Amino acid sequence: MRINKYLSASGVASRRKCEEIILAKRVTINGAVVDVLSTDVNEKKDVVCVDGIQVKLPGEFVYLKLNKPKGYACTASDEKGRKTIFELVKSDVRLFSVGRLDYDTEGLIFLTNDGEFANLVIHPKFHFEKEYHVLVEGAVKESELAVLRKGAVVDGKRMPPAKVKALSFDGNITKISVVINEGQNHQVRRMFEAIGREIRLLKRVRIGSVTLGGLSRGKTKPLTAEEISSFRGDK
Ligand code: URA
Repeated sequence: MRINKYLSASGVASRRKCEEIILAKRVTINGAVVDVLSTDVNEKKDVVCVDGIQVKLPGEFVYLKLNKPKGYACTASDEKGRKTIFELVKSDVRLFSVGRLDYDTEGLIFLTNDGEFANLVIHPKFHFEKEYHVLVEGAVKESELAVLRKGAVVDGKRMPPAKVKALSFDGNITKISVVINEGQNHQVRRMFEAIGREIRLLKRVRIGSVTLGGLSRGKTKPLTAEEISSFRGDK
């Protein structure tokens, strides 16, 4: 198979964009730079990398999005014997979650067997936003949100700044959108603790440009080639 076809079939980018990537000498086959569009790849044996990250044809890697319900742990086997997200997933291959959500947090999480992809999504240096919807009791004031935007101080340390906006106030519940780039432990919960607000419900609705969409609670769906490549920065 030609290298440009291999790359586009692997979800790196469109065929035309893949040609640009090859000509820019960003592609290696078995460690050697390839800049000739007609180069053939032996898809059974060759190791193809873009910017040093291995890419494989679909079918070799699995990428799923899950709408994690509250009350599920993100570990393969929970030491407290609690239900885990892996009970919700049918797969012939062993998958792991891309980052974690707390037991009581619901929403979007990816499952894959592609370690490079997982690293791209969660590593703070790649700056992929994670958006959460937070339900909080009472009317939250702008001044409180301003503290979260600047970086609330938790245990004497300032949390990273966040994009924060109130979305609605209904039935004494304020719904707030919080967008962060990092994935510190319990980050959103700690931010709200710092302003003395208890979270009623925490739900992740977006990672990068991939949204939960209409995916029902507890259900999985394969990521599209476009969604996968959106993390590789070639769109
Ligand atoms: N922040 C939290 O506090 N919990 C999560 O599960 C995710 C982000």
